[in-house]
Amino acid sequence: MQRLTVVLAAALVLVGGVVRAADGELDMDLMQTIEDTNKSLASNIATQNGAGSTADAKELQELFGKVEAHFVAKGGADDAVDLSRKSKDLAGAILKSVAEKNFDSASESATTLSRTCRTCHTFYKKS
Ligand code: HEC
Repeated sequence: MQRLTVVLAAALVLVGGVVRAADGELDMDLMQTIEDTNKSLASNIATQNGAGSTADAKELQELFGKVEAHFVAKGGADDAVDLSRKSKDLAGAILKSVAEKNFDSASESATTLSRTCRTCHTFYKKS
């Protein structure tokens, strides 16, 4: 009996794994890249590195475009789509502020952007 339970449990874990993959999970590498780029952006803004901030903000715009596409394709995740768009817009606002050498304003947008990460994780991150 105990043996059967173990086999059943193993089978359940397997099925769970398949369902998770088919569910179209967000690529973890993508989020890890976003994390690294967001950190780099914060330090580039803090040191008023215009070129570095611009490169990072552009990359984040692109990466959040991918996140947006993921949630659009997944469906039923309107809030996540909105939060992805908001993140893209904030990266755009940072680009504009940096171009104007307004690092205070860039820093404010970066703070809002980091808050947006947490908002989305609260609702959509499973672990
Ligand atoms: C629109 C939603 C959304 C936004 C915005 C978002 N994330 Fe995520 N993030 C997720 C989801 C969903 C997961 C978990 C994916 C899963 O469990 O399949 C995740 C996972 C992560 C992880 C864990 C990756 C790992 O390897 O475990 C990190 C780090 C992360 N996000 C960083 C960020 C940062 C930094 C930002 C903002 C600059 C951000 N995220 C913005 C949805 C989002």
